[in-house]
Amino acid sequence: MAKISYRESHKYQGKGDEYEAYYRSDAWEKFLWSREQEIILRILDKYLAGKEIHLLDFACGTGRIAGLLESRVKTSTGIDVSGSMLAIARKKLKRTEIIEADITKENVLARRKFNLITAFRFFLNAEPELRSLAIKALVELLDEEGYLVFNNHHSLGSPWIKLLYARHLRKNPEGTFNVMSIEQMKNLVKDVGLEIVEIYPAGFFHPPKVPVSCRLNRAIDNLACRLMFLSRFSENPIAVCRRRKGHVSDSPESRKYTLEGQ
Ligand SMILES: C[S@@+](CC[C@H](N)C(=O)[O-])C[C@H]1O[C@@H](n2cnc3c(N)ncnc32)[C@H](O)[C@@H]1O
Repeated sequence: MAKISYRESHKYQGKGDEYEAYYRSDAWEKFLWSREQEIILRILDKYLAGKEIHLLDFACGTGRIAGLLESRVKTSTGIDVSGSMLAIARKKLKRTEIIEADITKENVLARRKFNLITAFRFFLNAEPELRSLAIKALVELLDEEGYLVFNNHHSLGSPWIKLLYARHLRKNPEGTFNVMSIEQMKNLVKDVGLEIVEIYPAGFFHPPKVPVSCRLNRAIDNLACRLMFLSRFSENPIAVCRRRKGHVSDSPESRKYTLEGQ
């Protein structure tokens, strides 16, 4: 049976409520979200301090990331294909323009540019074709001096994810357990002329089925983040990307300029 595209995965009625409830109740996700918030704000301070920020939260879902950022940016836009997820975002977000559309299929944001694009919990789960179409569409929307920030919440560098993945391959190879390595993250953006300029590690201690308190996890993350050689073992690395200097874009826009300039 043909697998359905990740595009369809969050569209059913009730998915938005389920997603919110999961984030409120799961200890690991709550912990990760606390780390993600700190890291995203640090990225803003480091890379976009003093600038007017125009945010595009791609695959914004229920508005987690846009909700954190909308009061800190000049304009905020969230886009997603799921009406069920966006129904929650609409209730939550105060000053974000919310768009229900698929930029891999329709050019609804044509001619707009954003100097901050976030894409959380998307690339890991998107099938290869969707990953590639999405990153191509996003790079077209990224300002020349802008940053793309995305995460990978099942990094193969994590010993726990490695363990779970090996078990999955042994017991249920037909099923789905997505993993992504740091190398794959680098290649994903390299193919469209971006480079990862920094990776923030988050989430180190996640032994399967062992509940670990948020406090202990924070202490472990604190320590692990100080020891640079440990960073590749994190479960949820967050990458900051920008355009690679000297890269010639292959976008329709740039092709047009080249032709006109001849
Ligand atoms: C796991 S949720 C992540 C939501 C949010 N970014 C977060 O971190 O909480 C993944 C989202 O990707 C959306 N999605 C899947 N394919 C998409 C596409 N082609 N364009 C925009 N959103 C898409 C789904 O509808 C879903 O809301």
